[in-house]
Amino acid sequence: MSQPCGPAFEFSEEQLALQEQVRKFVENEIVPAASGFDQSGEFPIDLLQRGFELGLRNFTLPEELGGAGLSLFDAGIVIEELATGCGGFATSMVANDLALTPILIGGSAEQHKRFLKPVIEAGQFASFCLTEPNAGSDAAGLYTQVHADGDSYVINGTKQWITNAGFATQFTVFATHDRAKRHKGISCLVVAADAPGVSVGTHEDKLGQRASDTRQVVFENVVVSRDCLIGEEGQGFPIAMQTLDKSRPMTANIATGIGRAAFEYAREYALQRKQFGQAIAEYQAVQFMLADMATDVAASRLLGQKSAALIDNGQRASLESSMAKRFSADAAMRITTDAVQIYGGYGYTKEYPVEKLMRDAKLMQIYEGTSQIQRMVIARELLR
Ligand code: CAA
Repeated sequence: MSQPCGPAFEFSEEQLALQEQVRKFVENEIVPAASGFDQSGEFPIDLLQRGFELGLRNFTLPEELGGAGLSLFDAGIVIEELATGCGGFATSMVANDLALTPILIGGSAEQHKRFLKPVIEAGQFASFCLTEPNAGSDAAGLYTQVHADGDSYVINGTKQWITNAGFATQFTVFATHDRAKRHKGISCLVVAADAPGVSVGTHEDKLGQRASDTRQVVFENVVVSRDCLIGEEGQGFPIAMQTLDKSRPMTANIATGIGRAAFEYAREYALQRKQFGQAIAEYQAVQFMLADMATDVAASRLLGQKSAALIDNGQRASLESSMAKRFSADAAMRITTDAVQIYGGYGYTKEYPVEKLMRDAKLMQIYEGTSQIQRMVIARELLR
């Protein structure tokens, strides 16, 4: 299938080889399995392990810690390809970077060795635990409590919508010492999934991205040693925000991949489907939809690449990350909805792949900060 408005930047030999490797994996292994996992809601553990063996996890974690050591820009090439095959699969992969990045940002060299290397090298999953039942968009208003007790910290609270939770061996948890202090009271701690007092809920029966595992996690008098604290007490919130700055370009890549797949299916279908004696691609109404879809894919990719390049250069890119995430998520929703429209009644059935893409796209406007939260971040950055 063609790629609308191919990369704006000329890819190096290595980048093209990486893209080709992932494309083959997607075509041969993910695409044939995606619909089955969507229907069963099963976590594609074997396929995820296979991806891990190919080096397709922990994308931006350094090689010396076992990660793929990719720049955020190169990770974007991989993630977009994975997401053309299955958004839920790509989310499961990216969620490990999200969970481990706070430790990379705020942890000591010793903590990197203790909390990153073993998880990465063993191909294990980790989860980022920020969101709560009553603290989603307002992350600084979270309720999970942490208090010091001798040489330990004790954690109590409930986290919600936690990706990979049922399969994670380690949680990166944000908890407050004092809710009145809002963001200044929040700390970041690493908790082993098998620590006494940790319990994981049932798998959420989601509308889309059904291959990704989403659960509640409860911490009940969970005791961790003091050296599980990442950074200083009260530094957790900026660590979480810096992590999201870095992971939002990756979610933008997922949205771009979902949108691209929908465009490619719709283009093929429009060329084949005949009504009133000719292919529906001959009608301007359909052509204009395809034109907008391809433009949205290209713009999504560019915004993702711009934010990734800035972060790779060591710059703060809250503005660009939120622009990329907001635009590509909303674009994916538009593109996939139009793909269903082009397929007509067939598109509304599970026999064809576009309704899944539409369901998968919806989550892009919700997780890692809703499209409304991204607009808030963008406006604040513009007016600062
Ligand atoms: N980098 C560094 N520091 C930052 C920062 C950034 N990007 N953004 C904010 N901060 C700092 C601010 O400078 C400020 O610090 P000071 O007081 O020292 O100046 C502090 O953090 C508080 O900032 P704000 O006043 O802006 O905080 P706020 O409470 O008004 O809200 C928000 C900020 C942007 C709305 C934030 O709450 C937010 O991003 N909410 C959305 C949460 C979110 O994205 N959740 C997704 C969870 S992950 C998920 O979905 C993953 C999954 O499993 C798939």
